[in-house]
Amino acid sequence: MTDRDPRPIAEVGARRGHEADHGGAVRSMFDRIAPTYDRLNRLMSGGLDARWRRRAIEPIATAPAGDLLDLCAGTLDFAAELERTYPERHVVAADFAREMLERGAAKVKRVETVVADAMALPFESDRFAAIVCGFGLRNLADVDKGLDEATRVLKPGGVLIYLELFRPPAGVRGATVRFFHDAVAKTLLPAVGSLIADDREAYAYLARSMARFLTRAELENKLRERGFVDVRGEDVGLGVAAIVHGVNAGEGIA
Ligand SMILES: C[S@@+](CC[C@H](N)C(=O)[O-])C[C@H]1O[C@@H](n2cnc3c(N)ncnc32)[C@H](O)[C@@H]1O
Repeated sequence: MTDRDPRPIAEVGARRGHEADHGGAVRSMFDRIAPTYDRLNRLMSGGLDARWRRRAIEPIATAPAGDLLDLCAGTLDFAAELERTYPERHVVAADFAREMLERGAAKVKRVETVVADAMALPFESDRFAAIVCGFGLRNLADVDKGLDEATRVLKPGGVLIYLELFRPPAGVRGATVRFFHDAVAKTLLPAVGSLIADDREAYAYLARSMARFLTRAELENKLRERGFVDVRGEDVGLGVAAIVHGVNAGEGIA
């Protein structure tokens, strides 16, 4: 899958205890739905996710020199977009579901793929100039641990980007999005899941994971707490999804 690494997929063991239970269940679910994931994704986003991805990676234009990481890379849509938009940079894609990575292999040319847990990444600290994580963070057993790990492997001055389906905020502002999320969560996702993937439970899980996740503002605060600067959030698809990004203000930032 890569012309830089003769052993294209490096296996990294799952964590123990409760996290391993959650992680193991999530990983086998994504391995199971890998063959239908792309079709579902296009359908659920109304074909808009490609536009959201292009928008999400724009801030990488100002990132320092260095490699890019597609985290929770799935079927490599972000990795492919990174390769296309930033052809001069080396792209690494990490996910713990091997089947997802293998499904996406044909979309990329030079991307290095690694089977790895986002909460225990097999990369040295300060390795990446930018990290993008699409629809992955809400699946982690411990979101804070995932954020700490992404921060660890990001260079000072590096850009961290999340594209996610956040929990809608309370109050009037979130009412429309809440209505949509409820409709999606309770009917559309499980129905479409059973129709296309014959796996109603897997898509019911995806819906539940949205309802339990952070709001966009909560993620922005978590980045600021970790010392990120220029933290910005932007709704896309009428607020159904949102992009959050910030710059790691570690050493080296004035
Ligand atoms: C909803 S898919 C998103 C895939 C892709 N990023 C996209 O934008 O379409 C979530 C992905 O996160 C991966 N994932 C979930 N938890 C993970 C973890 N702890 N470590 C690594 N990957 C994880 C799953 O295997 C799955 O491929």
